[in-house]
Amino acid sequence: MHILVTAGPTREHLDPIRFISNRSSGKMGYAIAQRAVARNHRVTLVSGPVALAAPEAVELLPVVSARDMLAAVERCLPACDALIMCAAVADWRPREMAPGKLKKNTMQPVIELVPNPDILSTIAPLKGQRTFIGFAAETDDLIANATDKLIRKGLDMIVANDVSAADAGFGVDTNRVSLLTPSAAPRHLPLMGKEEVADAILDWLEKTVAANARR
Ligand code: CTP
Repeated sequence: MHILVTAGPTREHLDPIRFISNRSSGKMGYAIAQRAVARNHRVTLVSGPVALAAPEAVELLPVVSARDMLAAVERCLPACDALIMCAAVADWRPREMAPGKLKKNTMQPVIELVPNPDILSTIAPLKGQRTFIGFAAETDDLIANATDKLIRKGLDMIVANDVSAADAGFGVDTNRVSLLTPSAAPRHLPLMGKEEVADAILDWLEKTVAANARR
């Protein structure tokens, strides 16, 4: 399979040195890319700025902003069989990016923001027979919020991720997730290494693609 993986945060610049972003380290997405390559899949990894090295066999496309990420995903998707949208995309960006460093005495105390495009919703019309997997980063009402995103974003599976616990979610090597699909009961996985979580996601993906091919 050729799998498109997105990982890491996006940065939304206010000027060349200041930006809005989030705590995503990229570890979960890079673990998925790493395990997918180990399982003999071809992997294209669209990555926001992270301090991680990509596995050698991966085709790495570094991006900065949500709009860069959308453009890279739109470009790569036609050649791919599956998309795993693990990136923590910034939902808003400053209305304007100054070309040079904003000086303290000319900066306004309020930053005007505009919404970024939702990547999954924008590319939904290109889905075709492809399998789409999303992530839901939640601190409250994990299953209800993730189920809503699964349906609203037209996904085949969503990985519900409680990012409020110290041992799961952003920045750490372990994760505790639930795998939600439109047709089955949620599968709650115990605390695992991110590579084990990646294997559980890829097990599901491989089984689903094989079952669809038999239909
Ligand atoms: N996502 C996306 N484009 C965005 C924001 C999110 O494609 N602009 C994707 C993420 O990569 C993830 C899924 O949508 O796979 C859910 O992301 P999440 O941040 O949990 O949800 P949001 O859609 O941002 O909703 P909310 O902020 O209300 O939680």
